Amino acid sequence: MSKPVVLVAEELSPAGIAVLENDFEVRYVDGADRDALLPAVADVDALIIRSATKANAEVFEHAKKLRVVARAGVGLDNVDVEAATKAGVMVVNAPTSNIVTAAEHAIALLLATARNVPQGHAALKQGEWKRSKYTGVELQGKTVGVLGLGRIGVLAAQRLAAFDMEIIAYDPYIQAARAAQLGVRLVTLDELLQQSDFITVHLPKTKETLGLIGDRELHLVKPEVRIINAARGGIVDEAALDAALTEGRVAGAGLDVFSTEPCTDSPLFKHDNVVITPHLGASTHEAQEKAGTQVAKSVKLALSGEFVPDA
Ligand code: NAD
Ligand code: MLT
Repeated sequence: MSKPVVLVAEELSPAGIAVLENDFEVRYVDGADRDALLPAVADVDALIIRSATKANAEVFEHAKKLRVVARAGVGLDNVDVEAATKAGVMVVNAPTSNIVTAAEHAIALLLATARNVPQGHAALKQGEWKRSKYTGVELQGKTVGVLGLGRIGVLAAQRLAAFDMEIIAYDPYIQAARAAQLGVRLVTLDELLQQSDFITVHLPKTKETLGLIGDRELHLVKPEVRIINAARGGIVDEAALDAALTEGRVAGAGLDVFSTEPCTDSPLFKHDNVVITPHLGASTHEAQEKAGTQVAKSVKLALSGEFVPDA
């Protein structure tokens, strides 16, 4: 009897592949290439993706045998969960696999933005010794506003507390008592915008959060604010941020994610006070190994008709 087929559409850790190889036929495709993906899903039982593959109704229409789509990471915004459910396809992810890695990356961007690390590095590599140009700011005593006090927001808040920062957060779905336990003061969105020296975004991309930080919001912030987004592109409106940076209403930004990815050119890139990374928030060996093995185990359970617990 032939083995069920698992289609791996994006890079998956060798540890994850090893979990699959004994029981399944593992095939590979570039999920970002629709012309390759659509025929490739036709006869597969499971599809494993990360961020670049859009698992939408069109994919489910082509994938007549598909039983499970697995996202080797946290966000499910590139999976049309409703269309999957209609098509009878189970959706699984690895919700805790990369949360420490993502929180650490947000802090890396925050520190890099505060201290102009990439700018100083680039200048020195060009043979320029520019000390005063790249004078930065301290974190101690400053207020950081955490947008979204979920898994990653909490980890970021706990780590930033070690820098003696005051931590405020906006998250209407979190109890004030839970926030207080973490030493975090819950505030409204406008209060967070008005009080923060740093803002770090840890929201999912949804209809409500897309463009949440737009032109109105960027007129409320302090001019010395530095905004970090290692969650999803578009939550901070890119045109509004570009205008705020141009007009000096924002002192800097650290961005790991963009509204369209891959993003190799953007008006935001021209600002010397913007630090950018190419969606590296989950990119550590540790997180990729966890994401790979967690989704591979979930796929194995799903294809055996067993209960798939939250990882
Ligand atoms: P989570 O679900 O644990 O936390 C999200 C929090 O946002 C929740 O507490 C929720 O109550 C809050 N929230 C939801 N809608 C809100 C709204 N409209 N206003 C205010 N708060 C709202 O998610 P998480 O694991 O912490 O992940 C956060 C984000 O980070 C996701 O977008 C995820 O995709 C992204 N992420 C990015 C990378 C990367 O590589 N850059 C890596 C991992 C996760
Ligand atoms: C996630 O949601 O887990 C991240 O964006 C990581 C990724 O896509 O690789």
